[in-house]
Amino acid sequence: MSAAGRRWGRRQRALLWGVLLAAWEAARGQLRYSVPEEMPKGSFVGDVAKDLGLQLPALSHGGVRILDKGRTQYFALHGKTGHLVTAERIDREQLCRLVEKCVLRCELIVEGEMQVYGIDVEIMDVNDNAPSFRQAEKDLRLSETTAPGSRFPLAEAHDPDSGRNSLRSYELSGDEHFSLAVQAGPGGDQRPELVLAKALDREEAAFHELVLRASDGGDPARTGTARIRVTVLDANDNAPVFSQAEYTVRVPEDVPVGSVLITVTATDADEGLNGLVKYSMKKETDMASDIFHLDSETGEITLLRILDFEEGDSYELEVQAHDNGALFDTTKVAITVTDINDNAPELTVSSKLNEISEDAPAGAVVALLHVEDRDSGRNGEVRCSLDVGAPFRLEKSYEDYYRVVTARELDREQVSEYNVTVRAADGGSPPLQSSAVLALRVLDVNDNAPVFAQERYSARLAENNAAGALVLTVRASDADWGQNARVRYRLGDVRFFPIVVF
Ligand SMILES: *[C@@H]1O[C@H](CO)[C@@H](O)[C@H](O)[C@H]1NC(C)=O
Repeated sequence: MSAAGRRWGRRQRALLWGVLLAAWEAARGQLRYSVPEEMPKGSFVGDVAKDLGLQLPALSHGGVRILDKGRTQYFALHGKTGHLVTAERIDREQLCRLVEKCVLRCELIVEGEMQVYGIDVEIMDVNDNAPSFRQAEKDLRLSETTAPGSRFPLAEAHDPDSGRNSLRSYELSGDEHFSLAVQAGPGGDQRPELVLAKALDREEAAFHELVLRASDGGDPARTGTARIRVTVLDANDNAPVFSQAEYTVRVPEDVPVGSVLITVTATDADEGLNGLVKYSMKKETDMASDIFHLDSETGEITLLRILDFEEGDSYELEVQAHDNGALFDTTKVAITVTDINDNAPELTVSSKLNEISEDAPAGAVVALLHVEDRDSGRNGEVRCSLDVGAPFRLEKSYEDYYRVVTARELDREQVSEYNVTVRAADGGSPPLQSSAVLALRVLDVNDNAPVFAQERYSARLAENNAAGALVLTVRASDADWGQNARVRYRLGDVRFFPIVVF
């Protein structure tokens, strides 16, 4: 026997069995049909007349009818043809909500034979329902620290159709953070679960929109969807970050107290309290905390007391930004104080003479001075000068030391006392000055001979005058001082006349 022949034989046998079964069941007063649901009213269900071997005239005269039990009649008997037809549109899902095999029964009475036949009509499922979710939207709130692999149950979809027309599969679309797992429930039902496939990061994406799609096995398949909205809850997983690793600012030393010198800013990517930043100074390292005030809320650094460049020309603060948790960042704030010409040069007389001999040679040292200016740069550059016309000059000595020396030999007989003013001025604008006075007395040297008031003196005397009579008075003066100016008179050679001396 060929393969086609075998197949033909099988079909013949199956058909034969069907006919035999129908005949046997008809003999038992039982008929079986099947009809798809949702057929329009009047659709053919089965040829009752033929299957029961009834004569059509008997039918047309009302001898055969469907028994009315006061319930909804789904079927009717067509008088002319003897066909069982639908009397209503039949919805399988309405009639047999939870029953897999939906069979409607009606009874046929043949008046002439006093015979009742039962007719079972199986309502075949049609894929007229799509899977549906009771809730079309679901909100899930997950912490961003939720471990990958965590599972969250999702609502199941329902499809009232039966068999392959009922729910078959689920699929999830959205993003790579989530995947779908389907567990088999105890009753063989499918339970969809959302699986976190990749760690969440609220700062990257605070919401995820997913779509869960349920499909049935019909042809064509019908689908139903539910939207899943995942809100990612913040965790304190971000530390504050300063806008700069180091802040530098230059301020003049005369900046007023209370001025804002600089503002530090840190941001935290977290939200709410987790992202709230507070600033603080690392006190233990900063002696500057009594000079500068840091506002913990705004990050403003203000001046608490007046700065002094000469006391400190730079400060380094370590500032921290903390969030509400334990996360923080540190930055450096370098404050450079710039100089203001607020210091006059200081002139110190380190050593000096009070007197100098008038025969001291030119270049004799009269005083040693020291100048200093606490300002820096041009503000601290000092120039020294002496009175114009004074017989002295300045000579630079070691570093900031100057010598006052005589510019030429002095002459006590001309000027016996000097008040030498030394001036020091810095290079600021305007310059600041200071001065010192050196009082110097010039000591005498016997460098002047006595000089007679007259070159020649003459007098007339009467003869026979008494001895001791005054002839004349001579006078000599000496420009020197003290002993050097004391004049003694002595008579030299006397020619012709004696001279009386007092
Ligand atoms: C020098 O200064 C002193 C004190 O001020 C004063 O007594 C004296 O007269 C001054 N001498 C000269 C030569 O100016």
